[in-house]
Amino acid sequence: MKTIFSGIQPSGSVTLGNYLGAMKQFVELQNDYHCYFCVVDQHAITVPQDRLALRQNIRSLAALYLAIGIDPEKAILFVQSEVPAHAQAGWMMQSVSYIGELERMTQFKDKSSGREAVSASLLTYPPLMAADILLYGTDLVPVGDDQKQHIELTRDLAERFNKKYNDIFTIPEIRLPKTGARIMSLAEPAKKMSKSDPNTKSFISMLDDPKLIEKKIKSAVTDSEGTIRYDKENRPGISNLLSIYSIFSGETIEEIEQKYDGKGYGDFKTGLAKVIINELAPIQERYYELMESEELDRILDDGAERANRAAKKMLKKMENAMGLGRKRK
Ligand code: AQP
Repeated sequence: MKTIFSGIQPSGSVTLGNYLGAMKQFVELQNDYHCYFCVVDQHAITVPQDRLALRQNIRSLAALYLAIGIDPEKAILFVQSEVPAHAQAGWMMQSVSYIGELERMTQFKDKSSGREAVSASLLTYPPLMAADILLYGTDLVPVGDDQKQHIELTRDLAERFNKKYNDIFTIPEIRLPKTGARIMSLAEPAKKMSKSDPNTKSFISMLDDPKLIEKKIKSAVTDSEGTIRYDKENRPGISNLLSIYSIFSGETIEEIEQKYDGKGYGDFKTGLAKVIINELAPIQERYYELMESEELDRILDDGAERANRAAKKMLKKMENAMGLGRKRK
């Protein structure tokens, strides 16, 4: 069975972008792959976080993984900082990375621009991400479009390590969803939807209540044409909403266009809010149950133990390859 690894940062409330771009695929993939799903809290601290909010977001994200249908019998769910091999292997991967290639990462440029002080870890985020993936002999990484560059770098670093030290890493492939690989902001459709966007109208959180979802969809930016037609280049706002509608309803874009032929944005947005709420309602119900239960901690403890066991084996191979530690007599 091939192996999958993917992670989400607990850097805010998970959005429809994270769900449609990444998490929704995980549920189907867990049936056919050996899966590791991670709450990558060490990545979240590359930008400032409030201590209490971070703690809350870690539990909340883990509960959400389970609420959308991740089955701990099938997949290993764990928190990154509870498996120390990630930070250890991340350091080793930094040693095979070049500053120039890290500075070229668009996410580093976006997240560092306009900041007075930029943490060193924001620059070295990609080697840590490479370590996350490579520790488990990962074959496939299901992510959204924005992570493409980081996965390409992971492949380069793995190949470089294999060539320079020892051929121990599997070279992972990226897996993008057919639709939803890049869900755009509801407020600025030229920008990606992001959970850390300070404008809360720009995203729908997986935990927004039905009234708030309706309100955010009603205020989503479209254009003055007033017709429900997909045209990504010229009409990014309505096209983004059509993509979201299509994934949630299972209908094709053409079927939705036909359904709303002759109708306006008001009717379309009411329909869109309905399909989103229908899918999120049972997820939210399960989420609140999990947040109250002891089951969540039991699952995360077990996940950390299993991940630690697997990660330690690869860490040892990495240390041997690089010549770290003592050779015992
Ligand atoms: N807008 C998006 N459309 C499709 N997929 C997306 N992803 C993120 N935004 C979109 C995918 O979600 C997974 C988890 O992402 P992450 O938490 O590791 O960090 P990110 O990519 O930086 O996501 P955010 O929401 O923008 O977080 P912040 O605001 O903290 O930076 C990844 O698979 C990602 O591709």
